[in-house]
Amino acid sequence: MKKMTTVICAALALLGALALVSGCAPEKAERVKTVQIADGTVDPALWGKAYPAEYELWKKTGEPTPAGKSRYKKGFDEGGHRPDKLDEYPFLALLYNGWGMGQEYSEPRGHMFMVKDQLSVEPARYKAGGSCLTCKTPYSPLLRQKEGYFGKPYQEVLSQVPKEHQELGVACVDCHSNKDLSLKISRDFTLGKGIAKLGVDPAKLTQQDMRTLVCAQCHVTYSILKDGQMHSTDVIFPWDGSRWGKISIENIIAKLRGNPASAEWTQSVTGFKLAFLRHPEFELFSNNSVHWQAGVACSDCHMPYTKVGTQKVSDHRVMSPLKNDLKACQQCHAETPEWLRQQVFAIQDRTISSFIRSGYATATVAKLFEMANKATAAGKKVDQELYAQAREHYEEAFYRVVYIGAENSSGFHNPSEALRILNDASVQAGKAEGLLRQALTKAGVNVPVKVDLELAKYLNNRGTKKLMFQAADEIKDPLPSK
Ligand code: HEC
Ligand code: HEC
Ligand code: HEC
Ligand code: HEC
Repeated sequence: MKKMTTVICAALALLGALALVSGCAPEKAERVKTVQIADGTVDPALWGKAYPAEYELWKKTGEPTPAGKSRYKKGFDEGGHRPDKLDEYPFLALLYNGWGMGQEYSEPRGHMFMVKDQLSVEPARYKAGGSCLTCKTPYSPLLRQKEGYFGKPYQEVLSQVPKEHQELGVACVDCHSNKDLSLKISRDFTLGKGIAKLGVDPAKLTQQDMRTLVCAQCHVTYSILKDGQMHSTDVIFPWDGSRWGKISIENIIAKLRGNPASAEWTQSVTGFKLAFLRHPEFELFSNNSVHWQAGVACSDCHMPYTKVGTQKVSDHRVMSPLKNDLKACQQCHAETPEWLRQQVFAIQDRTISSFIRSGYATATVAKLFEMANKATAAGKKVDQELYAQAREHYEEAFYRVVYIGAENSSGFHNPSEALRILNDASVQAGKAEGLLRQALTKAGVNVPVKVDLELAKYLNNRGTKKLMFQAADEIKDPLPSK
């Protein structure tokens, strides 16, 4: 019943947006002066004249969120300390060593910062060029139309954005049509192509689908394709072979491994050229999760209805539902916020425990490859068949660890799928380790029972900023086994 109310509210809010923003309490509705939003208006302040409540909430994505409410996402807590994933999960520093991701990989924060954070991060992180602006600036659909957008240097492409908007993050125009404020996909060149791969007819998308898809413009994994000189040529979503509601990690890995142009970097420990995976919130969530099956959208949990004066509006201060005291959940769940928070923590603890274990198992294999490579260089005969088989299993493990590590809900978006993926990662890493130990032993190399990961080497003096390991930020296995 509660759910019905929500759905009705959403419909009213949308209708209301055309003439007067009324929300769910028409008798108390305030008339909002309608201001014509001219074609091509990007400046949120101008949209804000018509819709001040949403504008004020949107601006709040620039303010830090309450501390002590989230267990794993503290990147934007009041107090200003922003942990780096490489310090939280030290094995990642080993696995990502070789490019920008292994130097600085800060936890996300509010939407207001997306370009600013890019400008202040380790420069190696945006070496890919204009491509990096694709899900950062509201101007990317325009920039994209220019020659060489994907591969030109980042600063050169950013300088084509009007000066006053060079640091502007997600804007109204990214999610709304200026004509009638309906939700729209502004990034046809990435998400548009992506949903076509899923066999979806854009004309058949429902309002509820759109309440998820506006977020899926950016909260998805993508691959920056490279030419022979390692210049970026395109940004694609590796969704080939997948369907709506079932984008599997298996298909994503098959697509990335099957396309040499997706190899974006070289992992220094193993010497392998590899692809990478980013923030797959949409993919994990939509792959048959309980909430997806129940018809819940990203916006239901991250933009719940809220009262502003007498208006009922969608909370445009997009953030973790834990930091909003689980108000969003209570639209549908009758339990107390504290009970719900404990459910979230229980799910996240299991996921993070599995993530840490499979991560260390995979990092151990990487070190065994290093040993095997050194042995070969020293003239020892390492069985190439065993080595090749081990590499197959290793890469399967690696991409699964990266996938869940990059997904920002620590498993909550799809608990059972996250655990399935990490379980497979551990199994694959175990197989790779067995094969490599066999190959090394055959080659006469004495492999210690406990492999030294030499983590300090990867954790300290990272990048041009010479970042050092922040031990206090390390997240230890929340469910250690004996
Ligand atoms: C134009 C791209 C884009 C769109 C559209 C977008 N996001 Fe984001 N989102 C980002 C980026 C980039 C960050 C990280 C910003 C940073 O750390 O500087 C982020 C951060 C977040 C955060 C973390 C905020 C915090 O306080 O730490 C949440 C939650 C989030 N987004 C949810 C959503 C939801 C839900 C939607 C859809 C309603 C959405 N986003 C739409 C790009 C986008
Ligand atoms: C059923 C509710 C629910 C739905 C639906 C949902 N999320 Fe979340 N999301 C959460 C919870 C709970 C967390 C964990 C927050 C935490 O640990 O602080 C989270 C975390 C996140 C984060 C990281 C937040 C941060 O502070 O860094 C992002 C980004 C995010 N979700 C985006 C999305 C996107 C995009 C979608 C749709 C594809 C989505 N979520 C669907 C509940 C939901
Ligand atoms: C990340 C995507 C996103 C951005 C950015 C965004 N909105 Fe929205 N907006 C939504 C969603 C989702 C809804 C809910 C739509 C629905 O289901 O009817 C919404 C609803 C609205 C509504 C209808 C009333 C309400 O609050 O539900 C107004 C008005 C609105 N937005 C104005 C704005 C303005 C002004 C800006 C810029 C300052 C903006 N939005 C930025 C996603 C976004
Ligand atoms: C729009 C409605 C809606 C919202 C919002 C919502 N849920 Fe749910 N949730 C459901 C439905 C429906 C189910 C399916 C099981 C059931 O009927 O209780 C479910 C199931 C769950 C489960 C059991 C999941 C499992 O894997 O068995 C948990 C835990 C949960 N929700 C927590 C949350 C939390 C925490 C939030 C807020 C961050 C939230 N939900 C937001 C509707 C919702």
